[in-house]
Amino acid sequence: MGVFASTEDPDSSGHEQVVFCQDKQSGLKAIIGIYSTALGPALGGTRFYPYASEADALRDVLELSRGMAYKNALAGLDLGGGKAVIWGDPERDKTETLLRAYGRFVDSLGGRYYTACDVGTYVTDMDHVARETRYVTGRSVEHGGAGDSSVLTAWGVFQGMRAAAEHVWGTPTLRGRRVGVAGLGKVGKHLVGHLLDDGAAVVATDVDPRALDWARTTHPQVDLVADATALITSDIDVYAPCALGGALADDTVTLLRAKVIAGAANNQLAHPGIEKQLADRGILYAPDYVVNAGGVIQVADEIDGFNFQRAKLRATRIYDTTREILRLADAEGVPPAVAADRLAERRMADVGRLRAIYLR
Ligand code: NAI
Repeated sequence: MGVFASTEDPDSSGHEQVVFCQDKQSGLKAIIGIYSTALGPALGGTRFYPYASEADALRDVLELSRGMAYKNALAGLDLGGGKAVIWGDPERDKTETLLRAYGRFVDSLGGRYYTACDVGTYVTDMDHVARETRYVTGRSVEHGGAGDSSVLTAWGVFQGMRAAAEHVWGTPTLRGRRVGVAGLGKVGKHLVGHLLDDGAAVVATDVDPRALDWARTTHPQVDLVADATALITSDIDVYAPCALGGALADDTVTLLRAKVIAGAANNQLAHPGIEKQLADRGILYAPDYVVNAGGVIQVADEIDGFNFQRAKLRATRIYDTTREILRLADAEGVPPAVAADRLAERRMADVGRLRAIYLR
């Protein structure tokens, strides 16, 4: 697989910089992908994952870093897009030395890339990374970090959902609507709270009995159903995928009864083309990377010294961004996912161009 021009996926190529990092003693094998710094230093998490091959690790970092450039652009951040992968089993291979070796490679980029948590890495890991570099976010509160990013992720999803509700039903509220939440994890739990506060009825599901117990105890008014299929075939107005990726597949499109989809899960579309199928069926899909940007907004705020109120204000603007994307989608006759990509590319080009104005 090539980096300059990937023949497998042309969309994943065009990166500014891809750095392979190795420290034999600690066993570190990492790849840092910087897709774009047009808007500022690249920000994106570090995924620690036992990829089957180096090619798989490279493919993932190229895709993920590109996705972060688009997400950060639409979140209104002065940050470009990057991502890193550490190739290994976090259960077996993660050590203080490995994380600190990784931190030194991040530091060697001189601030072109800021890292954060992702699958397989946690705030305590970022605290170790931070011992070697200041280009790190997502640290623990005790170390000046923003803490659990699911708080503003859920808030942002709720804002995006309000904008979608306004587009379909004329008012920016979920009051009187029935919302199906798949996944009562860190984000799903906060989201259920916002929905109930807003006057929505909630139906939910999770594969983990502990999550279901949480719902029974904390919010007994929430209806629980057996699985995601039962959820999407039930009488819901809004579907909020908050578990794993790929929630929107061909069969979901045909079975779904909701008119709106807005949820936290990353990479909800199982394959390209689903967004068109949804649009053809009159289902409004609020793009995942637009509505779930509250988390990156939360951790990005650490760069300026974390201020929760400022970060929350920024995450609240996901309402305006989603509105604008839905308006653009209608005006240009394209699905919202396409409109979102266009808006992100426009901001990267327009604001990025200002760097051409010479400053001493
Ligand atoms: P989590 O791991 O805390 O929660 C996921 C929940 O989904 C768990 O309770 C799990 O039991 C449940 N689940 C797994 N498979 C399921 C299935 N087939 N049906 C129903 N429930 C199922 O994760 P978290 O942090 O709540 O994130 C949720 C999603 O949002 C993930 O896709 C994540 O990548 C995405 N996301 C999270 C952000 C954050 O700040 N936490 C930021 C942006 C995106």
